[in-house]
Amino acid sequence: MEINDLKKKFEEIYGVKSEFTFFSPGRVNLIGEHIDYNGGFVFPCALDFGTYALVKVRDDNKLNLASTNFELRIGSDLDNLSYKEEDDWANYPKGVIKIMIDMGYKVKGMDIIISGNIPNGAGLSSSASLEVLIGVILNNLFNEGKIDRVELVKIAQKAENEFVGVNCGVMDQFAVGMGKKDKAILLDCNSLNYKYADVKLLDYAIVIMNTNKRRALNESKYNERRAECEEALKIIQKQKNIKNLCDLTPKEFDKIEYLFTDEKIKDRAKHSVYENDRVISAFDSLNKGELEEFGRLLIESHNSLKNLYEVTGKELDSLVEEALKAEGCIGARMTGAGFGGCAIALVRKDKIDTFTEQVKKTYTERIGYEPSFYSSGIGEGTHQIFE
Ligand code: GLA
Repeated sequence: MEINDLKKKFEEIYGVKSEFTFFSPGRVNLIGEHIDYNGGFVFPCALDFGTYALVKVRDDNKLNLASTNFELRIGSDLDNLSYKEEDDWANYPKGVIKIMIDMGYKVKGMDIIISGNIPNGAGLSSSASLEVLIGVILNNLFNEGKIDRVELVKIAQKAENEFVGVNCGVMDQFAVGMGKKDKAILLDCNSLNYKYADVKLLDYAIVIMNTNKRRALNESKYNERRAECEEALKIIQKQKNIKNLCDLTPKEFDKIEYLFTDEKIKDRAKHSVYENDRVISAFDSLNKGELEEFGRLLIESHNSLKNLYEVTGKELDSLVEEALKAEGCIGARMTGAGFGGCAIALVRKDKIDTFTEQVKKTYTERIGYEPSFYSSGIGEGTHQIFE
């Protein structure tokens, strides 16, 4: 929805004009999947599309939330914010606000309208986008913009972990909050050290492909993988003094592989160690303009997520396989949590039209419904829009 239409909508709902406008992007992860919670490196970037919020500060203690994407509206007192299943999307803003109140940050009553253009459940972090958005609103409007951005990122993650109950890592909130135009972020999830990297794709572009299988963050499977990694870590710690699975190099891992009696647990650990190594290689190859090598690493990453980590499924696998058959595509992989949602493909710019046409056709033949394709630039992290 255009900002001006959104402003009209705000007036329609609340009977007053909005005062402030904010934007928060979605994210895509280039490589480094399911290792943010294993102390590994990830390589995400913020997207051009995301979530808008219009805000009017109120004189009382009331929080009103509406969205153009969902019918549901809620009204609540600020001192009475609790998780309610039926509050659905509104639990994300409520969670961030509650946690910030509990931490002693200043908050006042607000009327808010949210409007997002990130496809829901596509694994492009619509929830992290919304969480960081609310954190930045509270920072800019009531806390003089003094809260450090990385602190806000951690607060957003905490809201998801503790209020919503999804045990996610820090990658999504970090990419959303710290994104920079035309840059990917190489983030060490153990230390939270990071650096920005140019994404020089030369004659190529990243195409985002949605399986259109709703991912609905398969929470139980996600939390199960985390538990399996913790089990693997304990087994390794009997021999080696490490803090995270990703502290190991592939060579070190190969030497202690014999410690595992359960193949599944070994595979989860192996994915984590090797994926971490691939992130660094991918970062280097992108820097050197070695796109073929970068593409090869994307494919390797997908295969590892399929065979060792088992988080792909037939939709993501079909989409990636069909993408790789198409002319001009030199790499593809699932992105995000998996089990559905989106994949990315590295495609020659002059082949994008024929690529999407072919993949749409062959994926639909295999799966029975169409995929969607998006092209997005790399955008800025969450910010206030001054008009
Ligand atoms: C989800 C989580 C992230 C990360 C990815 C997988 O997006 O929110 O923390 O674990 O899955 O890489």
